[in-house]
Amino acid sequence: MAIEHQIQQAVALMKASERLVVLTGAGVSKESGVPTFRDALDGLWAQYDPTRLATPQAFAATPKLVWDFYEYRRQIMRPALPNPAHRALAQLERRFPEMQIITQNVDDLHEQAGSTRIIRLHGNINANKCSKDCQGDPTNVVVADVDSQQQRDVPRCPHCGSYVRPDVVWFGEMLSVELLDAAKIASATADLMLVIGTSGVVIPAADMPQITRRAGGKVIEINPIESNITPIADLWLCGAAGDILPRIVAALADA
Ligand code: APR
Repeated sequence: MAIEHQIQQAVALMKASERLVVLTGAGVSKESGVPTFRDALDGLWAQYDPTRLATPQAFAATPKLVWDFYEYRRQIMRPALPNPAHRALAQLERRFPEMQIITQNVDDLHEQAGSTRIIRLHGNINANKCSKDCQGDPTNVVVADVDSQQQRDVPRCPHCGSYVRPDVVWFGEMLSVELLDAAKIASATADLMLVIGTSGVVIPAADMPQITRRAGGKVIEINPIESNITPIADLWLCGAAGDILPRIVAALADA
């Protein structure tokens, strides 16, 4: 089916929607130059499997290696700017003021683009916390505040002296119960979910489109390749989010 026709179908579904929810994954930030975990790593980091560095076990065994890996990821993400997909989603919020974004991304590109209603399931790569959450979950620590001498090693929590770690959810860790509940409620009450740039392999985030479907809502997917979500999508727009989303938003404005 021609993409133009599919865009019209998406617009028709969106015009009929009263409770729109958007689930985003790494694909939405791809066109901003943010590499995913599943992309090959460059240089020094090429010898490591990132999915094995992003675990509590790796941090316990080699804290400095994991800390340095996150410093490297932060460095690559620092210059990243919102792309047309992030900006189109921010525009969409003006049309659907109740629209909720559920994101698996740890960058802040949705916020930078101007979206305001965001559930960040996997945390924030630019924040740090005490690895023991000694003052409650999370015990955030501003690393610039930590003695610069210390920054050559893994910084320590100013309250209890434990290592500081990135405020992200690692493989094998539980998500925040409050955030997960909020995401489930948003998904169950959505009459339409837009799923953008996720492979749908990491649960529980990947369960959200199913929750919407089971509650009677519809699912539209935007992804240049088939994902785990595609078989349950009512409509799959095969293409890049930065190309397709602005076209949907423009068509919606004209509709
Ligand atoms: N537009 C839309 N989708 C795209 C684009 C694009 N320009 N480029 C790539 N994609 C799609 C890919 O086809 C793939 O299906 O984005 C998806 C990215 O998949 P993953 O790398 O698996 O990212 P994600 O689904 O967000 O991963 C989930 O796993 O890496 C961990 O915790 C991390 O939050 C992450 C979670």
